[in-house]
Amino acid sequence: MAKKIQKIMVTGSVGQIGSELTLDLRRKYGAENVVACGRKTAPSKELKESGPFEWADVTDPEKMKDVCKKYGIDTIINMAAILSATGEKNPQLAWHVNVTGLINTLELARELELTQVLCPSSIAVFGAGCPQVDTPQETVLRPTTMYGVSKVTGELLCDYYVRRYGVDARGLRYPGIISAETLPGGGTTDYAVEIYYKAIEEKRYTCFVKEDTRLPMMYMPDCIQATIDLMEADFDTLEHHGDFNVGAMSFSAGELAAAIKKHIPEFAVDYEPDFRQKIADSWPQSLDDSAARKEWGWKPSYDIAAMTEDMLKKLGQRHAAGNLYKQPGS
Ligand code: SER
Repeated sequence: MAKKIQKIMVTGSVGQIGSELTLDLRRKYGAENVVACGRKTAPSKELKESGPFEWADVTDPEKMKDVCKKYGIDTIINMAAILSATGEKNPQLAWHVNVTGLINTLELARELELTQVLCPSSIAVFGAGCPQVDTPQETVLRPTTMYGVSKVTGELLCDYYVRRYGVDARGLRYPGIISAETLPGGGTTDYAVEIYYKAIEEKRYTCFVKEDTRLPMMYMPDCIQATIDLMEADFDTLEHHGDFNVGAMSFSAGELAAAIKKHIPEFAVDYEPDFRQKIADSWPQSLDDSAARKEWGWKPSYDIAAMTEDMLKKLGQRHAAGNLYKQPGS
């Protein structure tokens, strides 16, 4: 009989995705059943006060085990990660957090016979030699960043633990994620979030990739939907495990600027590519996500126009209230 998901631990819960995912899971599974874990950054007041919070670093297996036992955790969503741009500044740290942290999590799942581990992967697994348009699920994976190397390793590890130990491990390749709550940190796709804040704040933005740089992107509500849908999918219907492509939209930096200009006509963008350009150029422009659609019913809701309207509305309201950039811990 399939094991149940009842007590969830979210590592990296203070980050861009973790912070919103944790709150949604608490609404769905009960506040006391979702334990948020962080390593360094103070959690927001809402995250801290809406349910249990623990300081637990994925690279510290003993602490992770203590937290699992304390709460009777059966499912771990491993959101803790060092992203692509930060990873290039400190590749060893990226490997340590992304790979050692995942092995620690998978080992806990094996030892404590957990119901499931979900660990996101990324479009960063792709690199030279794969088709960049409608990039298939199965293709050559030759990433050029340590982030990508660590995520390919993570996918293989998840699949290995499924095969070798019967651990239920799953993952999906997030595209760039755009959101209005917690700022992303250290990623190559961060420009697609920053641009909205700057459009509201200064009506100007200097973009760190070229105007024609096209990448796959997704709005946060779809990202959360995808994550929870995969987590809740029946294991027996899955042919893939750690490596689902999930697409939603694909646009160039110039097209994103144009979508914002429809709402803020005086908005101006210039382009000053830095080291992140090379990373962006090595990634797909769009994804073939037919496996996710077929195996667990993936279907995104937001396109660039709907996302832009929602982002500008949310950030506009916060700016008017003098709280555009939420202060950590508030
Ligand atoms: N948003 C990530 C990054 O830019 C991609 O998964 O590193």
